[in-house]
Amino acid sequence: MKTISFVRNMIYTGDLILVNRDYPYRGESSYKALMPIDSVNVKVLLARHVVSIYNNLINKLKAQNRITVVSGWRSQKEQEEIFNESLMKHGKNFTSKYVALPGHSEHQTGLALDLALNQPDIDFLRPCFPNTGVCASFRKKADRFGFIERYPEGKEDITGIAYEPWHFRYVGFPHSIIMKQTGDTLEEYHARIRQYLYGRSFLKYDFGSFRTEISYLPADKEVVRFLMDEDTPYTVSGNNMDGFVITVWRAGR
Ligand code: DAL
Ligand code: ZN
Repeated sequence: MKTISFVRNMIYTGDLILVNRDYPYRGESSYKALMPIDSVNVKVLLARHVVSIYNNLINKLKAQNRITVVSGWRSQKEQEEIFNESLMKHGKNFTSKYVALPGHSEHQTGLALDLALNQPDIDFLRPCFPNTGVCASFRKKADRFGFIERYPEGKEDITGIAYEPWHFRYVGFPHSIIMKQTGDTLEEYHARIRQYLYGRSFLKYDFGSFRTEISYLPADKEVVRFLMDEDTPYTVSGNNMDGFVITVWRAGR
């Protein structure tokens, strides 16, 4: 066994952070951690690892010219501009449904992207990403690559945002697959994981020859310490609320 330590502030970073009306983005978006999505859309930036995973999926679908990224990372200033412009053009009701409050947008994390079917006259706030053709194929495969549909229909009260079939969020694997299977939003998934306290129990997900064990570690001190088996791969993400999600990967099941 070895002891791992994290400072509490790390709860604001990682692929699973929950950013919504209740929890603002508190991490640092630095240009160093971002890169352009591709050589055509050089102004659309995303977290580096998300860029390569997104392009793997697009290459697999041979969708380079058929799907385009309308919006990726946004600075606080950009989210403010989008919010204010929407207020002026479309009013308060529309804006509260389709544009997150500045400081509370997933786009500020570099982990979220809005997609559109590549065609003329793309609507920036509500791009067309139908459930047919190449867009349907993307949607079908997205969870295998770590992406979720973040604002599903029927869960508007939970997410605080209207149905947005174009908005995808990277959360990583196996979380994306579990969320698709259970129908959980990110809010519901965190509530689920919270029931499994690290060291006591875990949510088990088998994949191929791997067994993943997912659990919640509260950040109740300035420095949080936990024990991990030697030579066991694991990932840690903050939840942006009060703790960490720890995913342990065990070979053989
Ligand atoms: N359209 C999403 C909710 C945003 O503004 O972040
Ligand atoms: Zn979006």
